[in-house]
Amino acid sequence: MNLQQLTQELNIAAKRAGAFIRQEAETFDRAHIEMKGFANMVSYVDKQAEEMLVEDLRKVLPEAGFITEEGTDTTRQERYNWVIDPLDGTSNFTHGLPLFSVSVGLMEYNEIVAGVVYGVMQDECFWAYKGGGAYCNGKRLQVSDITELGQSLVITGFPYYEETRAKQYLEILHAFMARSHGFRRLGSAALDLAYVAAGRAETFFEYNLQPYDVAAGIILVQEAGGQVSMFGDGDDFLFGKEIIGSNGHVHQQIKDTINEFWQ
Ligand code: IPD
Ligand code: CA
Ligand code: CA
Repeated sequence: MNLQQLTQELNIAAKRAGAFIRQEAETFDRAHIEMKGFANMVSYVDKQAEEMLVEDLRKVLPEAGFITEEGTDTTRQERYNWVIDPLDGTSNFTHGLPLFSVSVGLMEYNEIVAGVVYGVMQDECFWAYKGGGAYCNGKRLQVSDITELGQSLVITGFPYYEETRAKQYLEILHAFMARSHGFRRLGSAALDLAYVAAGRAETFFEYNLQPYDVAAGIILVQEAGGQVSMFGDGDDFLFGKEIIGSNGHVHQQIKDTINEFWQ
């Protein structure tokens, strides 16, 4: 199977898991919430959606391993690994706020070569594969052409359980407040990156994220003509727990602003 076919199968799997999540969203009872840590929630919905994805993707590419948020399968393989967040935006989901997604990337060695972010309640399926462009529901995606931070909409996220750098982070937010068109905190890092790919915002940045939060979004931004980096010089934005995704034009301005405060 080539990358295009793999991505088509991935779309089908993500939509199947998404349909299950959408159905459960209608009747979800907060009594089902379990706490993995302070403000870090999970439920049977995350777990069952992940089981569905693993079951489907095992058939699609039997030689691939898995990195999964809920630990359904932790078998790693050398060449291919699926990187799965079955429900990105669990806090939104449990509160009935309709911004959450299914996010799956395919990693070949250490690079993401395909990905799908499925916006469950909007029924928006964002997908991309290396060299093939990025799409949403069949429509080609292109990052925005805005070149000035002053005209940029900035999306970020606040880590729920890592407060050691909170003060620096607030300083960064304060600076962006004065220099940009404004902030959004949507609550699903995967959707945040997909929206940058779709040109709905100029940039997204966050720290303390996990590979499964960003894997699919990385390839979406790259294939839509944007840029992805860490805050500093490294290039391990998949595992390195800090990421900036942008339309490319404002990337340096975003990096410079963050680095005024980020030591
Ligand atoms: C979370 C979301 C959120 C981000 C958190 C993530 P989850 O993922 O992506 O936007 O700010 O850091 O943990 O827990 O809903 O899968
Ligand atoms: Ca997540
Ligand atoms: Ca999750």
